[in-house]
Amino acid sequence: MEIRVMRPEDEAKVYALISESLDEYFAPQVITFFRMQWPAGQIVACDLFGNVLCYLAGTKLPNGRVSVHLFATAPGSRGKGIGTMVLNRFKQAALMEGFSSIQLEVKERNTRAMDFYKRNGFVPVEYLESFYNDGSSGVRMVCDLGAGYRT
Ligand SMILES: CC(C)(COP(=O)(O)OP(=O)(O)OC[C@H]1O[C@@H](n2cnc3c(N)ncnc32)[C@H](O)[C@@H]1OP(=O)(O)O)[C@@H](O)C(=O)NCCC(=O)NCCS
Repeated sequence: MEIRVMRPEDEAKVYALISESLDEYFAPQVITFFRMQWPAGQIVACDLFGNVLCYLAGTKLPNGRVSVHLFATAPGSRGKGIGTMVLNRFKQAALMEGFSSIQLEVKERNTRAMDFYKRNGFVPVEYLESFYNDGSSGVRMVCDLGAGYRT
């Protein structure tokens, strides 16, 4: 398996992955947009055949943090440590560009993802009432890379 920065030719596979993994609709152009904004902040895990098993889309925020905007591992590949490796690679990318904290929003009911983030150094900082398009609420979480970064 390979953890690397996403390439333009990965886009269709990445779109298929997020379409089957996330319960919000995203237009295909969103993937291109994130890649154009910050190429080094788009991380994928691929198998030997080039299949994309995990994708993380990072963005740079005006508040001096970076954000994990989209993050999914293919359903059949979850729970094998791939997401942790991709997140660690993203932490490195953020540190290399001088960022020291990462923020993200997660649905309140997505307790598995929240537990995953807590184990990876994120702490809840804010409750987000009716934050999502479907009316559900969320939680904002922050990871201080000085304190929370582990390899
Ligand atoms: C959250 C996610 C990206 C983690 O990726 P991953 O490759 O499964 O991560 P790892 O294998 O490194 O860690 C797995 C851990 O995350 C937790 N986890 C969260 N969601 C899980 C899922 N749907 N299936 C299996 N494990 C899951 C497990 O508790 C597991 O812990 P364990 O190793 O102690 O059993 C992935 O589970 C996923 O794609 N979930 C669905 C989409 C999603 O919720 N994205 C986040 C939106 S904010």
